[in-house]
Amino acid sequence: MFSTLEALPSDAILKLIAEHASDARSEKVDLGVGVYRTEQGETPVLASVKKAERQILETQTSKTYLGSGGDPEFNLLSQQLTFGDDVAAERITTLQTPGGSGGLRVAAGLVLRARRDATVWHSNPTWANHVPLLGGAGLNLKPYPYYDYESRSLVFDQMMDRVNAIPEGDLVLLHGCCHNPTGMDLSQSQWKELAERIAARKLLPFVDMAYQGFANGIKEDVYPIHLLAGMVPEMIVVTSCSKNFGLYRDRVGSLSFVCSNAETAATVRSQAHNLVRTMYSMPPDHGAAIVREILGNPSLRAEWVAEVDGMRARLKNMRVSLVAALRREAPDHDFSHVEQANGMFCFLGISEPQVERLKKDCGVYMVNSSRINVAGITPGNVDYLAKSIALVL
Ligand SMILES: Cc1ncc(COP(=O)(O)O)c(C=O)c1O
Repeated sequence: MFSTLEALPSDAILKLIAEHASDARSEKVDLGVGVYRTEQGETPVLASVKKAERQILETQTSKTYLGSGGDPEFNLLSQQLTFGDDVAAERITTLQTPGGSGGLRVAAGLVLRARRDATVWHSNPTWANHVPLLGGAGLNLKPYPYYDYESRSLVFDQMMDRVNAIPEGDLVLLHGCCHNPTGMDLSQSQWKELAERIAARKLLPFVDMAYQGFANGIKEDVYPIHLLAGMVPEMIVVTSCSKNFGLYRDRVGSLSFVCSNAETAATVRSQAHNLVRTMYSMPPDHGAAIVREILGNPSLRAEWVAEVDGMRARLKNMRVSLVAALRREAPDHDFSHVEQANGMFCFLGISEPQVERLKKDCGVYMVNSSRINVAGITPGNVDYLAKSIALVL
């Protein structure tokens, strides 16, 4: 049976990780892999997470099954973190999911059950796994314009023109904040214009929120979700706790369906639970228990918010430092777009051969599109990085 299968090429990011790991140069820089790192280059367990884990260890009395929707307390706290008190809770049904990816996959299954011929419109470009993941589940996908590589900026007018032509009932996939890979988010007035258009054209917003807290703050970053939820009868929101809680491998996220009324929300919940039962039965508990412990305890929660604030500040500082260093090293080139971006990513805006030369000649690693993970920059390597970039320009 297995002899019918053909081997697939290894994932570009995994290949890059392996190449970086085997590079013996001490000055090498990794801007590829999409995880947060400290100035010491570590992806640490947050202090608030450690404390929550200790509490769980001491107080947990059972590991019995929790059900397909996961932990109800986690779901409530996670829902409040995303929607605040702005949306009537009975209109929303929330499930704990195995990371944001699991949430996206369950959302895709539910959309297919509800409307098999619906198309999900996604930004061009978008997160590298959106199309494989949602398309692999069976959804129709089409792109809308989002970013111009030449001017290194959003193409909001083109985006709006396309949204204006999307058929009623289709879904619009939006990055809640810290757009991956461009780092370019809509302004509040652009979100307003977009939300009005989405509501007028009876489209369904499908928000992927993988970086809450990394753009402007935990509360500030859910602005588009609150805005949209107040304007449309139905929407889907997927969140990930991988980045803002640093729980990458514990696989924790959430999936919320905002419905027009409580009755529909109950129907959607029954369908979503049934869907999960047929896929992975129920989500893993440990990560969600940590998040529940943190969000439900005021002092742990405050500590976590401060830790997220710290990660966000470091990312912003590194963007500012890199642009300043590039102004010195490559004064004829404009990299100011790097400073305008939010979160961990943005495109540097250099060519594939230049990316290749950076790797070969300088030990600076990034994916071919020149998307960089700003978390790979430190006060110790920023000058070397700017000099290396200047060298290949
Ligand atoms: C935009 C976006 N959505 C979803 C995810 C999935 O995250 P998770 O690790 O929680 O599955 C990521 C992770 O990089 C992402 O960047």
